[in-house]
This record gives sequence, structure tokens and C-alpha cells, in this order.
Amino acid sequence: MGLIAILIGNRFLSKRKQSLVPPALRPGPSDEELERRFFIRQLAIGGFLTLFMAVFLPAYFLREPVRLHERAVEFSAASVSRGADLFAPTGDPNNLTAVGCATCHGLKGEGGVRQFQGHTYAEPPLKYIVGRYLASGRNEEDIKQLIRDAIERGRPGTPMPTWGLQFGGPLNAEQVDDLIAFVYSIQEKPPTATSANGKALFQENCAICHGVDAKGGIGPNLTIEFQRLTEDQVRQTIMGGRLNINRPSMPSWAFLGSDAVDALVNFLKSVQRMPVR
Ligand code: HEC
Ligand code: HEC
Repeated sequence: MGLIAILIGNRFLSKRKQSLVPPALRPGPSDEELERRFFIRQLAIGGFLTLFMAVFLPAYFLREPVRLHERAVEFSAASVSRGADLFAPTGDPNNLTAVGCATCHGLKGEGGVRQFQGHTYAEPPLKYIVGRYLASGRNEEDIKQLIRDAIERGRPGTPMPTWGLQFGGPLNAEQVDDLIAFVYSIQEKPPTATSANGKALFQENCAICHGVDAKGGIGPNLTIEFQRLTEDQVRQTIMGGRLNINRPSMPSWAFLGSDAVDALVNFLKSVQRMPVR
């Protein structure tokens, strides 16, 4: 567009330079000329430019979202692969040095277990993190922020270290973004309950933190639960979890389905030290 304007302007100027008579003193074009040749030429140029804008701009406009999308995909693929390198450095599955989130969260985000301050500590399976929080009623935006906060700030009072530069960790904002992109790239739908047997469900999902006999571990003793909370509060806690930022959190289990949660509540009732009224 600019190029055309320059070309037209140049022609105009070079024509003027050829004449020695100053423009104001030159005789103007005759009426005949003005109405025919001159007029038609101006109309043709105007018509051409209008057509150009009518075709070019909409075409550009229509193509723009596709172009942006292609660039976004390209950028996010690069971001995911940088995130993968931070998550499990070097690509060698046995080398878990450097940053290595995988040391704790597993190579594919499947979770892990470690000893921490005398307790068996469960590292959450990050490949289910989005599905779990969605099932517990959070929206997409909250979940992304929550993941960012967990990485940048860490979870003091748990094995989860602080990673964000602004909180004293080793990773800059771009590296954190790359890790978030990687975490999103490994998401899977969390599996629903495998049985409706409360005891089996408890052993499978809860015992690691609350102990096989429900008497406590990194999570509290649940055999005195119904003295502290009503049945409804117990169900709510299991469904929604409890997110703490300075001590261990209780994950949410809504994704198991409400039948499974009912079975768990009934199982907990059956292991109370004092009979439940
Ligand atoms: C030393 C072990 C360890 C390392 C290394 C580690 N994490 Fe964690 N991470 C944990 C533990 C334990 C938790 C759960 C803390 C709690 O109970 O709140 C956690 C929680 C999280 C959560 C929140 C999970 C949820 O369900 O709310 C995210 C996201 C996360 N880690 C990402 C990362 C990333 C990314 C890295 C690498 C930069 C990393 N972690 C490195 C142990 C670790
Ligand atoms: C990763 C560890 C972890 C797992 C797994 C876990 N919990 Fe928890 N749970 C906790 C922690 C930590 C708390 C205490 C949270 C707090 O203090 O805010 C808690 C609290 C609770 C409470 C409320 C206790 C109270 O009196 O405040 C209930 C009920 C509960 N969990 C049930 C379950 C059930 C049922 C399961 C299995 C489906 C389960 N938890 C799995 C860590 C866990």
C-alpha cells in the first residue's frame, strides 16, 4: 500500500521538476481535459485502490486468526519441550539431577512417595491435576493460577520446594511458564472409582496419608472424625479437599464420583472410636 503511494507521488514530483514555469503560473488543464482524461484517470486510480482495499484487507483479516493460531501452536510446542527438559532433565530417564520435578512427581507426572520429617509423604500425580480440580468445582482460570502459585511459591511445610525467582527460588518467569505448559501437555482424565467398597477405596486412595488403620500419618487421625465434624462436613472435605499453603493439603476426591464418596464416608463411620449417633 505504502509502496503504491510512493510510486504515485514520485511520478507527480518528477513531472513537476521537468517544467521551468512555477506551478502557480502554468496554465491549468482545459475543461475538456479536466472532464475527460484527467477525471477518468483519477477515477480509475481511486477505483483500483478501493478494490485493492476491499479485497486485500478482508483477506488479511480472515487469515489473521489462522496465522495467530499457527504461531501459538509453534510457540507452545517449543515451550512444552523446554518444560519437559526442566521437569525431567537430559531426557535420560535415570538422570534425575538439575531441577527434576520428576524426582518427586514421577517421570510422567504419575506421582510418587518419599520420606519427609518422619512421615511417608505422597507427591500428587500431576497428570490428573486439572481434572481433579475441575471435578472439585474450580474453573480453568483458578486452576492455572493455582498451579503457578504451587510452583513459584512452593508449599512450605511440605517437601514441595519454592521455585519462583521472586520467592527466592531458581527459576525465572519464562521457565515457570514452560513448566506449566508441560504440565498441561501431560494431562489425563483422572480414573473414576474402581469399586464401591469403602474399605478398599480407603486403602487404595487414603491410607498413604491417613494410615492403613485411618489413625493418621501426614493427614490427621480419622477415627475421631465424627466427634469433630458432622457427616456433611466430612463428605464436603472429601469432595472438595482442603488447599493449604503452609502445611500438607487434603486433595479433592470428587472425581471418584459421589457413590464412592458415600462409601468412604460409611467406611469412616465404621472405624470411629466412639459410636456415631
Ligand atoms: C522434593 C519433592 C518435590 C519436588 C522436587 C517437586 N515437587 Fe511439586 N510437590 C511436592 C509435594 C509433596 C507436593 C504436595 C504438597 C502439599 O501437600 O500441598 C507438591 C505439589 C505440587 C503442585 C500442586 C499439586 C496440587 O495438587 O495442588 C504442583 C503443580 C507441583 N508440585 C509442581 C512441581 C513442579 C513443576 C516441580 C519442578 C519444578 C516440582 N513440583 C518439584 C513435591 C515436590
Ligand atoms: C496426600 C495426602 C492425603 C491423601 C491421599 C488423603 N488425605 Fe485426607 N487429609 C490430608 C491432610 C493433610 C488433611 C488435613 C488438612 C487440613 O488440616 O486442613 C486431610 C484431612 C482430611 C479430612 C478432614 C479431617 C479433619 O478433621 O479436619 C478427611 C475427612 C479426610 N482427609 C479424608 C480423606 C479420605 C477419605 C481420603 C481418601 C479418599 C483422603 N483423605 C486422602 C491428606 C490426605
